[in-house]
Amino acid sequence: MGADVLDMAGLTKIIFGAAAFQYVNAGSELGLFDHLHKTPDLTAEQIGADLSLARRPVDTLLLGTTSLGLTVRDGEGRYRNAPLVEQLFAEGQWEIIRDVIGFEAHIVYPGQQDFTESLRENTNVGLRRIPGNGPDLYQRLSETPFLQNVFYKYMRSWSELANPLLIEKTDLSGVTTLLDAGGGDAVNAIDLARAHPHLRITVLEIEQTAPIARRKIVEHGLEDRVQVVVGSIFEPYAGEYDCVLFSHQFVIWTEEENVRLLRNAHAALRPGGRVIVFNSITDDTGDGPLMGALDSVYFTALPAEGGMIYPWRDYAAWLDEAGFTGIELIPCRSWTPHGIATGTKPE
Ligand SMILES: C[S@@+](CC[C@H](N)C(=O)[O-])C[C@H]1O[C@@H](n2cnc3c(N)ncnc32)[C@H](O)[C@@H]1O
Repeated sequence: MGADVLDMAGLTKIIFGAAAFQYVNAGSELGLFDHLHKTPDLTAEQIGADLSLARRPVDTLLLGTTSLGLTVRDGEGRYRNAPLVEQLFAEGQWEIIRDVIGFEAHIVYPGQQDFTESLRENTNVGLRRIPGNGPDLYQRLSETPFLQNVFYKYMRSWSELANPLLIEKTDLSGVTTLLDAGGGDAVNAIDLARAHPHLRITVLEIEQTAPIARRKIVEHGLEDRVQVVVGSIFEPYAGEYDCVLFSHQFVIWTEEENVRLLRNAHAALRPGGRVIVFNSITDDTGDGPLMGALDSVYFTALPAEGGMIYPWRDYAAWLDEAGFTGIELIPCRSWTPHGIATGTKPE
């Protein structure tokens, strides 16, 4: 994929990229985009009055959001949201974007300050920015309920955005029992259970996250088909399943850990059963997609010892190493670099 030839405008966006994020974050937190969605074509004075911002701050905010193309100013000095922002509102997707922005602001940005050091040390130095003593981000989140809430709001939104791709690209007609390994707040389990009424799903989660998943399952009235089991995805799984799903997992862990996860899945599958790995994946050419590269900063610096948005060839190699056959690599062709890697346990 690769980038266009770099010019000064491109270099400016790279160097000042963190400032660009601050504008979208401020616009989101201060309610600028929501306000312009409800009431377009406002002057700076009106926006300042409505958002309780003094003149210089509102001028600064609008200078940034308009220069970045997030808002549009007409010849009479009236502002409205960019067409894309309005489209996302119309499609009900702006809430998802808002949750992603919140996650970036409160969790990713603090942690990725340690990216260079994390590369040097080959470990997630940025975890020191998250309060607690747990060995990874997930074990620490419950110590700061605000961060736990930011994380699972984001994770639910991100997965809800992606799950239609998972549902469209996988055939679960022959699957009755599915283990959702590291299933978060059960967002995938709930979406899959709704799409496939014959499915019975077990969500495997750590102690700190299991209550969140249980609550969501009850909220959706799916207690009869979706259950939560506390345990580690790195320990042997109890039971025999038709399918094991890893959603947004393999980007977190090292290559050795991913092979270990696949071996566990292999042992927990009936012969002929399938493992499905669903998350962002990069091109084998090592030059994109850009979003996969940018997201790798977080996975290098923060959640666990070492992850990245790995390329397709790694998934094929790990599945093979863990004993799977019939390996399929399925790009999802969305604006996110989601893909699916799947394999079958031989009969
Ligand atoms: C990036 S989130 C993905 C959640 C969910 N699969 C999704 O796609 O929305 C990773 C999840 O893995 C869980 N997790 C991390 N380490 C785990 C472990 N050792 N055993 C079980 N779950 C784990 C975390 O608690 C977290 O909910």
